[in-house]
Amino acid sequence: MNIQWGELSAEIFLKEYWQKKPLFIKGAFANFEDPIDANELAGLAMEEHIESRIIAHNGEGNSKNSDQQKWQVDHGPFEDFSQYGECNWTLLVQAVNHWSTETNQLLKPFNFLPSWRIDDVMVSFSTPQGGVGPHLDQYDVFIIQGEGKRHWRVGLPNKALCEKVPHPDLKQVDDFSPEIDVITEQGDLLYIPPNHPHDGKSIENSVNFSIGFQAPNAQEMISAFADDIIDKNTGTLRISDAERSITANPENIELTDINAIKDFFFKQLDNNDQLTQFIGSYLTKSHHGLELLVPVTPITDQQLIDIIDENLNLIPVNGIKAAYIPTTCPQLVINGDYFALEQATLELAQVFAQKSPLTNKQLKSFSSCLKNRQLLTSILNKGYWYIE
Ligand code: SIN
Ligand code: CO
Repeated sequence: MNIQWGELSAEIFLKEYWQKKPLFIKGAFANFEDPIDANELAGLAMEEHIESRIIAHNGEGNSKNSDQQKWQVDHGPFEDFSQYGECNWTLLVQAVNHWSTETNQLLKPFNFLPSWRIDDVMVSFSTPQGGVGPHLDQYDVFIIQGEGKRHWRVGLPNKALCEKVPHPDLKQVDDFSPEIDVITEQGDLLYIPPNHPHDGKSIENSVNFSIGFQAPNAQEMISAFADDIIDKNTGTLRISDAERSITANPENIELTDINAIKDFFFKQLDNNDQLTQFIGSYLTKSHHGLELLVPVTPITDQQLIDIIDENLNLIPVNGIKAAYIPTTCPQLVINGDYFALEQATLELAQVFAQKSPLTNKQLKSFSSCLKNRQLLTSILNKGYWYIE
């Protein structure tokens, strides 16, 4: 499955649209088949460990005349959907790619972007008039239209747009004038950059697949890096001032002191090895539950050799995040865990970073080296790849 860019290409898209302008591509996926249907989605929404919501409205008024619209937000797990009736509601299930291999395959056409940037595939099922109302998201999103038709409108960022909270769990914005105003059909693709108002109202029962991206903000990253410094105990140095001269105004914090403390502060953060490892770990940590398959007892080297002799393959857990950091001291990070590499394990590490299954043929060729077998057993013992 590839994106049929028409007159565009991935290069043109990145230059002209990515994070800049919304885009609609009619028939971006020829003969698109939904990787999951509404019944299977409802099944996932019944699971305790899967994040899901139903957003419903009373059908009165519209986004231009929204005072009469009453909104309801319910959180899963759900036991029964019959109370919601035939129209005016939508079911949204987060990280469906962690539970459905076919849905996870939807990420492949977006591999012109680095995989660390991707968060998850959210899937929605909407009944006629169903939707979450006009709103902003802080992240980029590609929305693929699955079964059914939906009326999508996307506008441009506008600081004058008022925010509304029609329910404590629902943020919306006032109506906006759309740049894109389309009826989406199966296989169509919408790209919406951050902070662009958008609104999708279903015309009939319809399914949408949203490829969502992650972009951590400074306070999240700084706070996580502070935790990393505490965990590794690398921030214990104290400020010192052996060269101090006499103070004329003891009530002041002089600019020279401020500047010296700033220098000290930034020097503590400027630990290249720790920062690189932190970034890799931070960006590959999953934000949603994963079906990790940790063996009951850890797999030994001999057991691994036996597994490989039995012609078995290794499969990555759906939705697992992994990355290879090609510095002079290359690193492999999987789901926030860092794996030390050596020259002999670089090739295997790159296969893991691509989140590829390892065929028995590949396993046979990699496993002649003890270092590769050690990397394989440590990843299997974390439950990130499993034996099939
Ligand atoms: C959807 O309703 O499928 C997508 C919701 C959104 O716009 O974020
Ligand atoms: Co949105």
